[in-house]
Amino acid sequence: MPGVMKYPRQLSAGANNTVIALSETEVAKLYTGDTRSDIGSEAEKMKFANAVNGLVVKFVRLDFHEALQAEMLVMERLKPLDFRAYEVERRELWLDVFEDELTQLHRAGFVHRDLRRPSDIGGLVFDNILLTEGGLRLIDVGISALRHQVGDRIFAKYLETEQGELQQFKTYFINR
Ligand SMILES: Nc1ncnc2c1ncn2[C@@H]1O[C@H](COP(=O)(O)OP(=O)(O)O)[C@@H](O)[C@H]1O
Ligand SMILES: [Mg+2]
Repeated sequence: MPGVMKYPRQLSAGANNTVIALSETEVAKLYTGDTRSDIGSEAEKMKFANAVNGLVVKFVRLDFHEALQAEMLVMERLKPLDFRAYEVERRELWLDVFEDELTQLHRAGFVHRDLRRPSDIGGLVFDNILLTEGGLRLIDVGISALRHQVGDRIFAKYLETEQGELQQFKTYFINR
C-alpha cells in the first residue's frame, strides 16, 4: 500500500536520515534526494575514526538501493540496551572508557560534534550515543570534523563545545 510505510525494514529516523535494517548484522543509512548530507564525506569521516579506535560505528561499504532509489551508507548494526537497567557503578566504568576513547579521537584530529542534539530539535537528547553489550558507541558522524580539514582554530572551538556536551552526557547517564 503506497503511503503507509515509506521504507521497508525502517529502524529509525534521526534528525536528517532514515536508517533501515539490511540483516542481523548490517544497517544502511539512506541518502535520498531530500537529505542535505554528503554520503562521501560521512563515509570518509567514519573510516578516519574507525582507524583510531572502536568508538564510532564501523563502516562497511557504500551501495545503491535500486528499489528505493537511494544511496546507502552500510554499517555495523548496533543493538542498543537501556542504560537504566544497569547499576550506576557499571555505568561509571562504561563512561570512563567512553571518555578515554573520545579523547583519543580528539588527539587524532577527529571531533564528533553531535553528542547532544540542539534543544530545538525533538527526540532523544543523546540519540547518537548508544549503549551496547560492548559499551558506549557513537553513531552519526554527519557533522563531525577533521582537524586537517577545518584547521586548528575551528577544531579547538569545536572541541570546547564537545567537552561541554560530554559533561552533560555524563550527568545524564549517571542520574537516570
Ligand atoms: N549502526 C546503527 N545500528 C543501529 N541503529 C542505528 C545505527 N545507525 C543509526 N541507527 C538509528 O538510526 C537513527 C538515525 O541515524 P543517524 O546516523 O543518527 O542519522 P541522523 O543524521 O538522521 O540523526 C539513530 O538515531 C539510531 O536510532
Ligand atoms: Mg543522529
